[in-house]
Parts: sequence; C-alpha cells; structure tokens
Amino acid sequence: MCGIVGVLGDHEVAPILVEALKRLEYRGYDSAGIATVQDGRLDRRRAVGKLANLSDVLVHDPLAGKSGIGHTRWATHGGPTVTNAHPHQAGRVAVVHNGIIENYRDLRARLSHRTFVTETDTETVAQLCEDFLDQGLGRREAATETLKHLDGAYALAFLFQGEADLIVAARKGSPLAIGHGEGEMFVGSDAIALSPMTNLITYLDEGDYAFVTRDGAQIFDAHGRLANRDARTIPAQAAQLDKGGHKHFMAKEIFEQPVVLSDCLNDYIVGDTVTFPDDVDFTDTDRMILVACGTAHYACVVAKYWFEQLAGLPCDVDIASEFRYREPPVSDRATALFVSQSGETADTLAALRHVQEKAARVVSVVNVPESSIARESDVALPIHAGVEVGVASTKAFMNQLGVLATLAILAARQRGRIDAAREAALISELRSLPGLINQALALEDKIASHTAELSEAHSVLFLGRGPMFPMALEGALKLKEISYIHAEGYASGELKHGPIALIDKSVPVIVMAPKDALFDKTVSNMQEVMARDGRVWLITDADGAAQAGDGTWATLTMPRVDPILAPLLYAVPAQLIAYHTALHKGTDVDQPRNLAKSVTVE
Ligand code: AGP
Repeated sequence: MCGIVGVLGDHEVAPILVEALKRLEYRGYDSAGIATVQDGRLDRRRAVGKLANLSDVLVHDPLAGKSGIGHTRWATHGGPTVTNAHPHQAGRVAVVHNGIIENYRDLRARLSHRTFVTETDTETVAQLCEDFLDQGLGRREAATETLKHLDGAYALAFLFQGEADLIVAARKGSPLAIGHGEGEMFVGSDAIALSPMTNLITYLDEGDYAFVTRDGAQIFDAHGRLANRDARTIPAQAAQLDKGGHKHFMAKEIFEQPVVLSDCLNDYIVGDTVTFPDDVDFTDTDRMILVACGTAHYACVVAKYWFEQLAGLPCDVDIASEFRYREPPVSDRATALFVSQSGETADTLAALRHVQEKAARVVSVVNVPESSIARESDVALPIHAGVEVGVASTKAFMNQLGVLATLAILAARQRGRIDAAREAALISELRSLPGLINQALALEDKIASHTAELSEAHSVLFLGRGPMFPMALEGALKLKEISYIHAEGYASGELKHGPIALIDKSVPVIVMAPKDALFDKTVSNMQEVMARDGRVWLITDADGAAQAGDGTWATLTMPRVDPILAPLLYAVPAQLIAYHTALHKGTDVDQPRNLAKSVTVE
C-alpha cells in the first residue's frame, strides 16, 4: 500500500514529484522520499511521517534535477524511519517499490558480500541491481536481471546515476501506470497521481516491465517480448481532490452520498426497470460467491440478504484473504462477484484469479474502471462514487450497496421471482433513498451531541438483525478505524451467547433497528442490555422510537424506509457517529494511523 511516481521532465522535478505524491498519500503515509539525477549525480531526500515533512526538508535542502522518482510509504518490513524510507539506493541505482519481495531474506544471503543499511525488503532490489552493474551488465539488463530473481508482489521504478533519460518500471501484483507527456514521460501507481501532468495513461499488465525515456516507453511482457499496451485517456479527476469546504475529505464524501448514489442508480435504472450489460444474466446461475475485504465485505454480507430474499439465489460470502485457502467448491454455474472500491486490493484480486477458470462468470463492482480487478473480470460494474480520498470508505460503500441492490433486483426478475409491479416498487424505494439520506444527514447535530460521551468509552458494541447485522459490523469498523476506540458488531440475538458479559454502564451499545419484522426481538435484546446498566443508543424510525425509545441513553429517529433497503440509509448515522467521535479524539480522520486506502499486499 505504498505510492510510487517517476518523472522524466523538462522542468525541475522535485515539486512535481511531491505534488504527485500528495495524490498518492492516501495509499500510505508513514514516510516519503524522492531521488533525482542531476549532472549525472544520483541523490535523495527522505522524511518520516506525512509528506509535509518531506516538503520541509526540500525547502531547507533542495534537490535539483529534471529526472526523478518518489515514494510514499506504508511500512511492511522495518519501522517508519528515515533509513527505511524509499527511495532505497545502492551505489549507482535508486529504487522505489510498492509490494512485498517475499524472497528478500534469500537475496540478502546471496548478497552477503554487500553492506545493507536498512531492514527493508526493497533494499535487496537496489543492492541486487547494483551487484549486476558491478558484474558489468548495462543499466537495462541489470534491472531486468534483478526482476528475474524477485518473488512476491511489486511495482518498481529504477533510476540510475549518470542516466537522466531512463526509468525502468516493472509491475507484478501491484498496479503501475505510464503517463505520456509532450517530451516528458511519467510513471505512477495510478492515474490520479499523474493527473496533474497527463491523462494519457498506459497501464502495465501483470509481469510487464518497461524502459521509459522522454521519447516514450518500450514495454515488454513477462516473457521479455515487446508488448503493445493501449494508451487511454483517463477522465481528469483533479477537481475532486479538494475538501469542498468541509474540514475533512471524509465529511465531504459523507455529504456527497445523495448525489453520487443518484448518479449510480441512474446508470443502472431506466424508468421502472433495472438495466445491466446483456452478459449479466443470472437465469442459469445456481450460486453466488461474493468476495471482498473490510467495508466492501460488509456490503457483500448485506447483499446476501438481497440475493437470497429477492432472487432466491444461495449466496456464499467470503473475506477475500480466507476465500481461496478454504478451497471452496465452485460450480460451473456459479457467478462470482468481487467488490472493491480501489479495484487493487491484493487479497480480492488473488481470490478473483483463483476462481477465474472455474466460475461461469466473474463480475466485479469497482470504483476504478481501469483497475486490475476490473480488467480481469468478465464484467466490471462501476459504482460512480467519484474519487474517494478518505481512507475510511463512505460514499463508495453507499454506492457498492446501490449497485448490489439493483443487481439483486435484476437477478430476481430474470429468475421470475418478482413481477414488474414489485420491481417498480423496489425501484421507487431506491429512487427515494437520496432524499432520505439528505434527511438523515440533517440529523448530524443530534448524532454529534452524543459523541463526546461516546469518545470516552473504552469499548463500544453495535447490534443489528437481518440486513442490519452487517451494518452493525460496518458501524463498528468505521468507529474503530478512525477513532481508534475498540468496537464490535454483533447480531442482536448473539449478545446473550457470550458478549453480554461485556455489558456494564461503561459500554455504550448502539442498536441499529428500523421497525421491521424483527424489531420486537431486538427490543428484547435492548432490555437485556439495559437490565445490566448498559447504555443503549437506539437508531430506529418513528414507529420504533414510539415503541422502544423510552429509557434508552439516546434514541435517534430516522426517516422511514423499506426495511430491505434500510442498510443504505442507516450507513449515514454509522458514518457520522464515527466521524464526530473521531473529532473528539483528535485523530487523523482522513488518514488514520496504520491504514492505507488501497491494500495492495496480501
Ligand atoms: C474501509 O473503511 C476500510 N478502509 C477498508 O476495510 C476497505 O474497505 C478494504 O481495505 C477494502 O478496500 P477495497 O474496497 O478498495 O477493496
């Protein structure tokens, strides 16, 4: 989960590299650094912590040169220190790397005659390349020979002393793009990083490497054969990288949800029917396999209720990092669905590759249409959430649910489980959601008023039943990842089977429960909590509040919604509870500690 960038420019590159790294900082932000070649000399500047620290270093100790590489780090091997910060240099070569070199220990043993100065796996790449230069290989050959010895995942960029017109780029398991300029060339982890310089992008395929000069890029496939990879114009997304008047990107993205959900639904609904590419057909599907990580996984757990209740389709839902190791039987009539905001999550991509040859169809639901997961699917369904900068996923989660809900309606119609009237009714409910979300957002002050007290808790429980159970899981994850308060989500009925031992007046219990067929059972669970001095914050609608809103620590009355679609609406209080609690904690809401937006290592 690091960000890499390279520039062969016609201006001083240090500020260009730093600007590109700002657009990659969401991928990891433990430390950052750049290297340039100036008058043949290869030199570096690095700093621990946020990118602003590197900018400070460059103010006091500038780095000249029109060719350079840069890196923002999410530490995998070795702590976040200046020494471990990229670029790593060994003599005449500097390297930036995203991924994990799994055989780095063997390589260090092979290079025992060399002096290592860091704890990182990446330094072995630079040392090995320098060793090949010592053996008399040319720069290109030394780099490609190095690649042959690497196991694991990498996106790499090599820069060489004495050569101001060459970057060697390579991709295996971690994304890497080449940007085409006018007499300039660029390399970056994604199109967002390169968007200030160019939107003409070539994505390297798995196993590709490239010799990049100002005249262009020579791309070779994994077998060393010249490869022709298309250059595509990627829509400029520069405008989306500002906070729009909000204090944080996360707040902006929470409040964008009515609009982006509308955009999403408009792409998949025409009139009173849902519409998808013709090859999305569930008629013969005998089983759904839904695979994702984190918040995207919770979207899949919600979708399980929809596919099973609406379409009568059995659903397996798996955490991607567990999926392939349980050796799941995959029928040749199964549809495998992979949900990923970034489209680059290594665990999810590996799971997709595991079923590619087995399932009847591989469908992905992504926010980046040109991402690896999208490109390796039979069908990629964009969620149209726009760039999501906040590491804690909000609008992307909302739109994942939007696409999954319309997909379940399609499956229900294709399998004859709903008629046109029911489809129209469900669509009408979906179309009402952006307005209802606006109403929920208007409850922000009510929500915020309880978060000071919540921020003092050492542990918080979220409860939900049915499709609100995964919303309890998501609410707990949101709170954990941005406020650093321990939180757990449970099925309401599960509390009495152990977790109720946690309950006392110090443990707030947030119950997410619209007035539905399961509400009375949830009320019983609430009473079990309150009988033990537990503080219940009930999030429900007017009917639910009338029935069970008394005696609680707090009750939030939400707009009414069809219970089957309640997860989309109840995402809003879950997000705002986490956000305002984190404000009280003073944590870094947009870039929480230890996290990264795109987890491209397994
Ligand atoms: C979401 O708030 C988290 N940051 C994280 O769990 C995320 O959902 C997960 O890493 C999956 O990312 P993806 O959607 O890009 O695959």
